[in-house]
Amino acid sequence: MRLNFPEDFFWGSSTSSHQVEGDCYLNDWWDWEKQGKVKDLSNKTCQFWNNYKKDIDLAKKLGHNSFRFSLEWSKIEPKKGVFDHAIVEHYQKIVSYCRENQMEVFLTLHHFTNPLWFSKIGGWEKRENVNYFLEYVSYVVSNIHELRYIITINEPCVYTSSGYIRGNWPPGKQNIFLAITVYKNMINAHNRAFEIIKSKDENYQVGIAKNNSYFSPYKKNFINNLAVSGARYFWNNYFLNNIKDHSDFIGLNYYFHNRLRTSFKYPFVFTENENKVTTDLGWEYYPTGIYKVLLELKKYNLPIIITENGLADAKDKLRQKFIKEHLKNVHRAIREGADVRGYLHWSLLDNFEWAEGFAPRFGLIEVNYETQKMVIRDSALYYRKIIEDNGLEI
Ligand code: BGC
Repeated sequence: MRLNFPEDFFWGSSTSSHQVEGDCYLNDWWDWEKQGKVKDLSNKTCQFWNNYKKDIDLAKKLGHNSFRFSLEWSKIEPKKGVFDHAIVEHYQKIVSYCRENQMEVFLTLHHFTNPLWFSKIGGWEKRENVNYFLEYVSYVVSNIHELRYIITINEPCVYTSSGYIRGNWPPGKQNIFLAITVYKNMINAHNRAFEIIKSKDENYQVGIAKNNSYFSPYKKNFINNLAVSGARYFWNNYFLNNIKDHSDFIGLNYYFHNRLRTSFKYPFVFTENENKVTTDLGWEYYPTGIYKVLLELKKYNLPIIITENGLADAKDKLRQKFIKEHLKNVHRAIREGADVRGYLHWSLLDNFEWAEGFAPRFGLIEVNYETQKMVIRDSALYYRKIIEDNGLEI
């Protein structure tokens, strides 16, 4: 049986500045790495900053008609209020190069990293600091052209929970009240950024990249079901409920199925996954989850772009099946009314996986960090065939 995807479907992959560019020395992540908090230093990454043409050529060779990357705010605004135009010109060249190669660009404005000066004045913890983000947004939108799709913030829930609840990302805090403040400030930032961008040109399509997980009860009972409803509300829906009127589309990043377990005796929520098949990071392989999560998003009545979906799989053993099964589930969701317009795999290249360093390999393309040699993984060729056919055989 053949599954055909809608006409003009966006096919491609995603990256982010700090994970692939190299030499991002002015942000809070670099500062964190220098304190020895991660076993690798990000600057030896694949040097997308210099090699973007080679990398985009490879994406083109893999049939991509779309590419998602992010701007490094700390390079564009190295000091508060001081914008480096040469940096913005460089980003313009990357955008233009995608265009020359007939690729749609999905540009993210904030993908986890903050300029160090911004963190030092309290970062997202202070409502008034949102204005600094908006000044940067305004500068960028006035100076980078040939754009249509703009993603304001990548994964606000992951940013907030890792930096302010688990504390394993900068700024390394564990404070639920701060986490709530940061989360609310990001909602405010998205909504106001939307207004600014649309006021420059109403044809811009502005969205968020939202990580939604599929939550289910470990065993069906009242208290586990309650935990699932709570998690869905706070993790999946709360942000979207507050930005839905300031969004042209929803970017969905799907990675996780979490089976929730709790009890009155231990009033905490645990995830107890069956983990029969896992990725190199031990994350459960659960393609049905993307279908469930897409159906949950239908209520927003907005176009959906899958802005990330992928796995750590150094030996490329599972990636082909992963892509196939997730796309089957995406197709099923489309048949049932989810307005999905594109699929961007995470990631084009092996990259710096935050607290995990370089070990996890998410790339369609393998990178040798010593020699900078790049090798296309077999699964990427399989993905290319799907793109060429705009569909797949099952
Ligand atoms: C992030 C990426 C990250 C990927 C895999 C997403 O949460 O946006 O930056 O590398 O997941 O963990």
